[in-house]
Amino acid sequence: MSHPLTGIIVAMQEELEVILQSLVKERTVQRAGMEFHVGHYADRPVVAVICGVGKVNAALCTQILISEFHVQRLINIGVAGGLGPMIQPGDIVIADSLVQHDMDLSPLGLPKGQLYRLEVFDFKTDPHLLELATQASAQIPQHKHFVGRIVTGDQFVANPTQAQQLYQHFDALACEMESASIAQVCYLNQIPFICIRSISDNANTGAHMDFAEFTPIAVANASTLLQNMIPLCDSVPHVV
Ligand code: ADE
Repeated sequence: MSHPLTGIIVAMQEELEVILQSLVKERTVQRAGMEFHVGHYADRPVVAVICGVGKVNAALCTQILISEFHVQRLINIGVAGGLGPMIQPGDIVIADSLVQHDMDLSPLGLPKGQLYRLEVFDFKTDPHLLELATQASAQIPQHKHFVGRIVTGDQFVANPTQAQQLYQHFDALACEMESASIAQVCYLNQIPFICIRSISDNANTGAHMDFAEFTPIAVANASTLLQNMIPLCDSVPHVV
C-alpha cells in the first residue's frame, strides 16, 4: 500500500532531534538555507525540516514543502507558551484554529488578527487530522491535552499582561511563532494541516524561565504524540 507524503515542520533543532531518532533517512536536500530530511517515519514517507523561528521562515518552508516536495499533508509540532490559566508546562494543545495575533490593520477598521482581503478570520485545522491528533494525545495520559485556538506572532511572549490580553482577546490557549503562517500557506494551497504543541512555559504567569527547564519534556511529548499519530493517518483523506 502506498502512503501519502507527510511534511513535518518544526522550528528548532531540539524539536527535530527527537524525530530524527526514529526517521529512516534516505536523503537530505538543501533549499533556502534549510535541510529537508526525506525518509520514512513509522514506515510512512515523510519530509522533516527545521524551518527556523518566526512567520517568514515558516511560510517559506511550507511553500517549498508543497511546491517542491509535493507533500500531501502537513504536521507542525513543537513547543508553545501557555496562555489560559488552566494550561501548565508539559500539557499538549492541539490547534483547531490559528490566528496571527500581531497582524493589526485596526486603523483600517479590521479586527486585530484579520488579514487584508482574506475571506476568513482564522485558519481552521483539518478536522480528520485534528481527530487523530486528539486520539493520539489520549495515549499520553500523564499530561492533559486541550483543543482550541493557538495564536502566532513574531514575539516570544513573556509579559503576563500581554499573555492575558492574547488569552482574552483571541480566546487562545497558547502562543508561538510559526503555526498560523504555516496554516495560511496550507489554506492558500488547500493542503490539510494540523498543529500540535506541547507547553514549554507559562506565558500567562510570566514564568518564561520555565522555557529551558520544560522544553525537553515538551519536545518529548510532542514527538511521542507524532509517533502515535502517523500510523493512524492512513485512514485520512488527502490531496493526490
Ligand atoms: N514558544 C514557546 N514559548 C513561547 C512563548 N512564550 N512565546 C512565543 N513563542 C513561544
